[in-house]
Amino acid sequence: MAHRIAFLGFVALAVCASLSLAAEPASLQDFCVADASGNTLMNGMACKNPAMVQASDFAFSGLHIPGNTSDAMGFRVTLVSMTQIPGLNTLRISLVRVDYAPWGIVPLHTHPRAIEILTVIEGSLEVGFVTSNPGNRHITKILKKGDVFVFPVGLIHYQRNIGYGNAVAIAALSSQNPGVITIANTVFGSKPDISTDLLAKAFQVDKSAVWQLQAKF
Ligand SMILES: *[C@@H]1O[C@H](CO)[C@@H](O)[C@H](O)[C@H]1NC(C)=O
Repeated sequence: MAHRIAFLGFVALAVCASLSLAAEPASLQDFCVADASGNTLMNGMACKNPAMVQASDFAFSGLHIPGNTSDAMGFRVTLVSMTQIPGLNTLRISLVRVDYAPWGIVPLHTHPRAIEILTVIEGSLEVGFVTSNPGNRHITKILKKGDVFVFPVGLIHYQRNIGYGNAVAIAALSSQNPGVITIANTVFGSKPDISTDLLAKAFQVDKSAVWQLQAKF
């Protein structure tokens, strides 16, 4: 019996270990402030000498400043990741401010390395994500000021301001470098292009529809 429990414990540990390998590795020290001058190539950035670390290595200012939302989609992301805060290196978290023009959207995208938890600070947002195959279930909700919503890692998601005024959200992401894959840009705006024939077949449309999209991205 004791052997069996020990074995189950070992299996559980092995599963946990493999799960944690899929995420960013846990820190082995208090912090590892990114050394911008370091030229060691690794997964993340090399650490600054801890004795040389300053409070400013852990700080960012200006997140109260609205982003310029005057592009075609009507949104602007102000990123606070390891690039802005070197102290975030290896700490597995980052932050964004998102500004939305009236009816502005954050188009369909995924974060390959992060869960996102978003809170609405101003206005109202329609948000949604779609589950993976074969279900492809669309999970969607209307959020108002103070509401919080989670986008699971890797799933395609979006937001839309459904108000006549500006909207603002703050979102935390579970990576120092979440990554963004915007679906339309990657599929129709790759360099060089993915073959028009292939895209027409994949999306079950005429080539002219694909050309139209490729011209946009
Ligand atoms: C916002 O961006 C647009 C176009 O990119 C530019 O013309 C405009 O001056 C910017 N507005 C502000 C307040 O910076």
